[in-house]
Amino acid sequence: MSQAPADKPAHQRPELPDFWDKRFAEGVTPWDHGYAPAELEALAPPADSPARPRILVPGCGHAREAGWLDARGWAVTALDFSPAAVSAARDTLGAWNGELHCADFFTFAPATPYDVVYERAFLCALPRKLWAGYGPRMAELVRPGGYLAGFFFFSDEPKGPPFGIGEAEHAALLSPWFDKIADTPSQAPIPVFAEGERWQVWQRR
Ligand SMILES: C[S@@+](CC[C@H](N)C(=O)[O-])C[C@H]1O[C@@H](n2cnc3c(N)ncnc32)[C@H](O)[C@@H]1O
Repeated sequence: MSQAPADKPAHQRPELPDFWDKRFAEGVTPWDHGYAPAELEALAPPADSPARPRILVPGCGHAREAGWLDARGWAVTALDFSPAAVSAARDTLGAWNGELHCADFFTFAPATPYDVVYERAFLCALPRKLWAGYGPRMAELVRPGGYLAGFFFFSDEPKGPPFGIGEAEHAALLSPWFDKIADTPSQAPIPVFAEGERWQVWQRR
């Protein structure tokens, strides 16, 4: 008989930090790409952003992009709820100007919303039962006129993580608050996501 999710040990439940701690501790992080993607390099902040636009990187993992963004003048907040991921991020970032928090995306309380939230391999790390909370939470975290920008994993494979999403379901998660203004296949998809990875920019109404 298969175990109900709540009966599984914590390191087998991706809604808990223990699951991710184990993977970082064992060096099993196949999503880690080690570079700033070309799509992010080309992303301009919304025109009415401050001189140092504010960007949040939730579920930052090794925080490769956070350091890159910091070096290019963004005011970066990176967060992850896995202490082992935060430790890896600290190693990547070294001395930098941004903020790094060990915190849960759903309960983290920033002083003000962000100009941009950058997503990669985060929604697909969340068990599907948590997805209903993703859109409203992103709507709180992105200011009106700001962007949710990043890579989303589209797939109908039932098992995960990564948990793939269908296009209609993805649109239903975000459309109540956001308009999609860009959508292209990833220029350099991470192998673990195969052909399912797309770059999208959603603007907060
Ligand atoms: C698949 S990894 C991707 C890491 C990073 N975005 C990257 O592309 O290298 C997913 C990350 O999300 C983090 N995570 C999952 N659920 C979270 C939550 N509710 N709050 C904060 N971080 C979370 C995990 O600890 C893990 O580091």
